[in-house]
Amino acid sequence: MRKYENPEFLHEGTMPPRSHYIPYGSLEAALDGKPENSEYYALLSGEWDFRYFSRDIDCPERIDSWDKVSVPSCWQSTGYEKPNYTNVKYPYPCDPPYVPDDNPLGVYRRTVFCDSAMAKRENYIVFEGVAPCIELYLNGEYVGYSCVSHSPSEFKLDLAEGENEIICKVYKWCAGSYLEDQDFFRNNGIFRDVYLLSRPVGHVHDVEVWYDDKSIGASHGFTLYDKEGNIANPPYTLWNAEKPYLYTAVIEKAGEFIPVKVGFRTQSVSERGELLINGKSVKLKGVNHHDTHPKNGYTQTRAEILADLKLMKELNINCIRTSHYPPPPYLIELCDELGFYVVDEADYETHGFQWYTLNTAGYDKNEVWPAHNPKWQAAWVDRAERLYARDKNHTSVIMWSLGNEANYGICTEAAIAKIRELDTKMGYHRLIHYEGAQYHERGAIDPFSVDVVSRMYNTPEELLEYIEKTGDKRPVFLCEYCHAMGNSPGDLRDYWEYLGKYPQLIGGCIWEWADHVFEDDQGRRFYGGDFDELTHDFNFCADGLVFADRTLKAGSLEAKQVYAPFEVEYSDNTLRIFNKFDFTDLCEITLEYTHTIDGKTVASGVLSASAEPGEFCEIPLNISHAPCHFAESLTVFAKNSDGHEIGAKQIVLSEGEPLSVENYSSALASSGVRIEQNGEYASIIGEDFEYLFNLHYGRLEKMGDYLKAPLTLTALRAPIDNDRKIIRVWEEEMYHITSTKIYSATVEANTITVSGALSPLSRMPYFKFTAKYTFGADGSVLVELSGGLAPDHTFLPRLGFEFKTSLSDFEYFAYGPGEAYVDMHAEARLGYYRSSPEKEYVSYVKPQEHGNHYGAKYLSLGEYEFIGNGFEFAVSEYSIEELSTKKHAHELVKNGLANVRIDYKMSGIGSASCGPKLLEKYQMNDSEMHFAFAIVRKNGK
Ligand code: GAL
Ligand code: MG
Repeated sequence: MRKYENPEFLHEGTMPPRSHYIPYGSLEAALDGKPENSEYYALLSGEWDFRYFSRDIDCPERIDSWDKVSVPSCWQSTGYEKPNYTNVKYPYPCDPPYVPDDNPLGVYRRTVFCDSAMAKRENYIVFEGVAPCIELYLNGEYVGYSCVSHSPSEFKLDLAEGENEIICKVYKWCAGSYLEDQDFFRNNGIFRDVYLLSRPVGHVHDVEVWYDDKSIGASHGFTLYDKEGNIANPPYTLWNAEKPYLYTAVIEKAGEFIPVKVGFRTQSVSERGELLINGKSVKLKGVNHHDTHPKNGYTQTRAEILADLKLMKELNINCIRTSHYPPPPYLIELCDELGFYVVDEADYETHGFQWYTLNTAGYDKNEVWPAHNPKWQAAWVDRAERLYARDKNHTSVIMWSLGNEANYGICTEAAIAKIRELDTKMGYHRLIHYEGAQYHERGAIDPFSVDVVSRMYNTPEELLEYIEKTGDKRPVFLCEYCHAMGNSPGDLRDYWEYLGKYPQLIGGCIWEWADHVFEDDQGRRFYGGDFDELTHDFNFCADGLVFADRTLKAGSLEAKQVYAPFEVEYSDNTLRIFNKFDFTDLCEITLEYTHTIDGKTVASGVLSASAEPGEFCEIPLNISHAPCHFAESLTVFAKNSDGHEIGAKQIVLSEGEPLSVENYSSALASSGVRIEQNGEYASIIGEDFEYLFNLHYGRLEKMGDYLKAPLTLTALRAPIDNDRKIIRVWEEEMYHITSTKIYSATVEANTITVSGALSPLSRMPYFKFTAKYTFGADGSVLVELSGGLAPDHTFLPRLGFEFKTSLSDFEYFAYGPGEAYVDMHAEARLGYYRSSPEKEYVSYVKPQEHGNHYGAKYLSLGEYEFIGNGFEFAVSEYSIEELSTKKHAHELVKNGLANVRIDYKMSGIGSASCGPKLLEKYQMNDSEMHFAFAIVRKNGK
């Protein structure tokens, strides 16, 4: 066994774990809190010498030639190794604790200059994150070893006056790799900051500061300052995620000033299982955050993390789970500062043991998982302790999370016991969380070692069922839900119907914040399988609520609106505004309304509202209704004091029915158009137009120059990532090899009636239909479709008509301006919009269905208008086939046309790529349907 293969060889020559802080030379600098201004601190990030060896045994005693890399970075970003994405499966044989014989090694070197002042002090080097382990040498002498990727390793350095050489050896694999089987790209290197601390003799090592809503204590003498730098006295302004007021406790010792940010607050759990912050019940509107950058892998700068958190704030997110390891220390600091509730997670996941043998029983309690093996216990406790030690002083941390997907055994219990002991010693009872606790005994009550009942991807009903069955009174939390992969999530609103209602359901964290991809210089985005990995999980890494570059998609905005802390209702000339903030009165935000008819604003104004958290207020609002053609709506916009939109809630007051089939039919029945049959074709001839209908194929093929492909009834969509399971069923149903059968096509006066079926290969028809086309003298066509999904069939991706026409800008009345679906349109508003095929494109990493508009009444595209009473449509530069077959966005080829869909219904979005299956109410499975729309020629006579 090699040294680094020993699961009990964790750290050698390292300092005991401690809280994260930077010591300063003056009170002013400490209160200002900029590390670069500290005389005791020197950031070593920057250019280092580097050598890569594909086998560690090839590293010579003395390395003569060096490359240069910038630190922090990952080997996979600097070009030394190819990226490697795998979710569950270990990228090497699962033969713990052994790692492959050929173990790559990266050697880093730099010098540090030690002046006479430093030589008199005590010097340390801190690595905030090295994956997966580090061996350190100073001036040729071995200093020590440390194995844990996402927690700091600190070594004391015996620096000699003058230049000193630091060498770090980073192995690609070690025993610890078995504990870091998180679902991400497997990167290596010194990926977080490295710095020197040169500290006066007699300095303190660890500092602990504890506080509640009234009092504060610390391991050392301290002075408390408020935001203005004045000495603070009680009563203190409290901290919460909405109003994150922070003080600074400064510990002065041996010439050092150590600032610790403090936010006064309490936390507890009510008898009803609510999470109480400062005595108020709080719902966690969360997201899971991984450190990920499209070019730099695990390395995210402070500025990038800050941008992430600010964007989360804009999306009304108030909780972050640091999946699945401690984040860079500045993330936690910024959470204190900006206001987030943090579920702080320790660095372990051993998911791959699920694959240990063919028959390993999934997640169920099973001895193969290291969590049951005493040999791994020290590592478990170490990682828990390191999580705790570093972040214990932070206000934002409300839960300690014992890692992810690592089964539940003696190691878990020992780690939990350690955290509980440490937290109790500080006088705290922050909640202990571990989703895997349920695997202690599946189906039974969760063990009482955890304070939170945690689940991932359960339906709300399943959560309620658990509560009902077990009588458990602990808070119930979805540590992961609403899997945001690709065009997703579509079920947020439905989840919050429950999460908002039941006190014991304290909320959840969307999986996950940002897509993980590797992006090249041309902006092309790559994922699993693009790097010749031996095993990989395709684009399962691209499952972010925001894209890799943090641009937004409909799913992001859906979260913003569903998480928005207010709700509105309107009836009897009264607007009711519900305050869903936890600590903010409605009078602290700006509320405005607009009243629109058919997309035109007819009235608007500022609302003066005041209601305490959890309360509502009523505002008399007289609306002068007027008849609408499309729809009449009332929208309430909320803005914060910076003028940023918090949310917009639309109430549709009434809907018009722009298409009256009776009127159309009678209008169209009039003369002025005749149909002539000629073999398989029927020509529809008016005064100034001639259309061609193919009676053999039952479809309209020519409308002057307009149709560039026939108007065809189809049922497929370009699969979204959430279709990845149902698509297997669809393929078994053979929907992907559908043909159209026409039983009859008859001409009568100015109508053509087609009866036919959509039939999959080798199976019975799934949709039998009658389609009636009535032609008017002005060139209009009324299309009426009726039929139904045959029994014993799986719901359809969608159902409606497709055609192609020339590219052009278009206007519509529907849910927009972004894409909108039956279950994902909280982010959209029913209104009148202009767009273009180009603007409709959404660059999902793996191409898929996008750009749908739900609730459409009107579309004006080129020479024709499409009118209906609530259809769905999409106009794209890409065909469904193109979007279905290409693996990457950059492979897509435009066909130079607008690919148009006029649909009866599109199935919902859901989040079934990992979450529950699409709710039945959103499945296109109507056994009986009637659908009509009119195609109106704009310049028709
Ligand atoms: C969960 C896991 C996450 C991620 C997700 C799927 O099971 O905890 O790490 O893999 O599934 O994206
Ligand atoms: Mg996993």
